[in-house]
Amino acid sequence: MKENIFNLRNELKGNLNPFRYEHTISVSFTSAALAMCYGVNLDKAELAGLLHDCAKHYRDEEIIKKCARESILLTDDERKAPAVLHAKYGAWLAEHKYKIKDDEIINAIRWHTTGRPKMSLLEKIVFTADYIEPRRDRAKDLSLVRPLAFKDLDECVYRILKGTLEYLEGKGNFVDSVSKQAYAYYKQVHDDKKGEQE
Ligand SMILES: [Fe+2]
Ligand SMILES: [Fe+2]
Repeated sequence: MKENIFNLRNELKGNLNPFRYEHTISVSFTSAALAMCYGVNLDKAELAGLLHDCAKHYRDEEIIKKCARESILLTDDERKAPAVLHAKYGAWLAEHKYKIKDDEIINAIRWHTTGRPKMSLLEKIVFTADYIEPRRDRAKDLSLVRPLAFKDLDECVYRILKGTLEYLEGKGNFVDSVSKQAYAYYKQVHDDKKGEQE
């Protein structure tokens, strides 16, 4: 897998613009750091991080056409909020172009934007790394969620989903129903934990 990672990094360096390449590398190493913390396979985390945005350089209309060509079904929500499509098409590319056979890696790419209820550890790691990686600087809650990611990953996922939904709804943007389901699930985890502590 190591050789795969080196080759892939070189390939992505040639394909991605410098800004996206920098983000990609940052997500892959942040994923690896979280994997160290939570006992997840480091190579898998690094690889999932490297590939998470492998479809992001395509325009939305291009991805919609490519999905139609490959018979990848899109939900109504995905058509309404096409920004999340790169995750679905990226997961397809990971499997078919980059020949990733590991479902855990493919799913981590698939759900890195919306999240989903009951995410695997690797899914939570890539979802979180995408938000907290060192090059990110816009979200107001970064100073809170960055240390939280290494202490309580479920609580961190809850905070990220909460902040993202509030941000999107505040701007009047459409929110994918899977993100809402993910938020409801991790809010319940948060509430249950609070109940236990009281
Ligand atoms: Fe992304
Ligand atoms: Fe990303």
